[in-house]
Amino acid sequence: MKKILTGTLGWVDDRIPVVSTWEKHLSKYYAPKNFNFWYIFGVLSMLVLVNQLLTGIWLTMSYEPSAEGAFASVEYIMRDVEYGWLLRYMHSTGASAFFVVVYLHMFRAMLYGSYRKPRELVWLIGMAIYLALMAEGFMGYVLPWGQMSYWGAQVIVSLFGAIPVVGDALVEWIRGDFLISGITLNRFFSLHVIALPLVLVMLVFLHIVALHEVGSNNPDGIEIKKNKDANGIPRDGIPFHPYYTVHDIFGVAVFLFVFCTVIFFFPEMGGYFLEHANFEEANGLKTPAHIAPVWYFTPFYAMLRAVTSPFLGLDAKFWGLVVMGGAIAILFVLPWLDRSKVKSIRYKGWISKVMLVIFVISFVALGYLGAIASTPGRTVAAQIFTLLYFVYFLGMPIYTRMEKTKPVPERVTS
Ligand code: HEM
Repeated sequence: MKKILTGTLGWVDDRIPVVSTWEKHLSKYYAPKNFNFWYIFGVLSMLVLVNQLLTGIWLTMSYEPSAEGAFASVEYIMRDVEYGWLLRYMHSTGASAFFVVVYLHMFRAMLYGSYRKPRELVWLIGMAIYLALMAEGFMGYVLPWGQMSYWGAQVIVSLFGAIPVVGDALVEWIRGDFLISGITLNRFFSLHVIALPLVLVMLVFLHIVALHEVGSNNPDGIEIKKNKDANGIPRDGIPFHPYYTVHDIFGVAVFLFVFCTVIFFFPEMGGYFLEHANFEEANGLKTPAHIAPVWYFTPFYAMLRAVTSPFLGLDAKFWGLVVMGGAIAILFVLPWLDRSKVKSIRYKGWISKVMLVIFVISFVALGYLGAIASTPGRTVAAQIFTLLYFVYFLGMPIYTRMEKTKPVPERVTS
């Protein structure tokens, strides 16, 4: 039996590099030995991606992408399709879980300076993933064709109308109609189930290839490849397999406990994962009193609403769009804003630490403000937090250069 297996593997390996790929990316991929809690979220993002792809395929089998049938087909999935309720809750909870793990994954990169040289491309590809994920989440939310699907799409698509000259034509082109209609639903469905998943999978592949080319960073921000033994193996590295594969199984198990608890006990999460208004079928003649996107978009939505005055002859909506777009765009240039001598927050000065805390508070506060109805007082609060968000990034080239950093040790600390 063993002979047959080795023979088959040898035959395949002569034609496709199975063994060398396994060695390069797992059994001989030397990862820093000091990975901590924050290093589990990349693997969890992959797990959630697979969950979304699989449950999505099965949901598509019973979903009907038309304005007349979409809402009823989701109800049919929930009530009549065997385990349809489970598939749907795995997918809707998975969407929120995706953003939870991706936000924590991105925050880890900000903590330890994982976006810095030589990992700029890992970060940039990550940002492309983030954009694709936002588009994927937005279009997916339109598919159940509930009130919030419809009016959310209405608000977001009409934003493009604020762009001077081409705005109106652009909105019509995106909708494919003079209003959000079954035609819009159809194209969003096509992008949601085919185009964007393909883009996401390809980007994730490139993300890992780019990471493995330069090697992983770690909580100390030390380049382990700079200190190798006589065999050329990093002294502070351990083979990814079996050490981190086993370590990650533990993290996956803990994650699945939390994930299943949400699916089985709180699938709507108090209206944050599935908004209450979305249990009512879309009605173009009845605008809900309070329109808010799902929680993972609310920080940017709050920034959009924070801009209230016209400027240079262009209306507030346009500048809101600029601020919102700018808040995402600025993340792309993060690797070039950070001028610190050290990578990890452990060895940065107190200004960087305080600024990071301010950034987190601002982002969370904006997320909260974007989820609730706006009042004049809340608008002022959103303006202050938007300003702080930008100060964190725009001030970075200055404060990272002028602050005193701590000496970085030769070897990683555990
Ligand atoms: C589908 C989404 C994503 C998947 C599946 C994914 C997967 C991974 C995996 C498996 C790793 C290696 C393990 C780890 O360091 O945790 C990693 C590392 C990394 N990812 Fe992602 N990622 C995703 C999204 C993102 C996003 C949105 C960003 C940032 C904009 C990002 C930035 C990074 C960086 C900078 C590293 C290197 C970290 C280090 O070496 O310290 N990733 N990613």
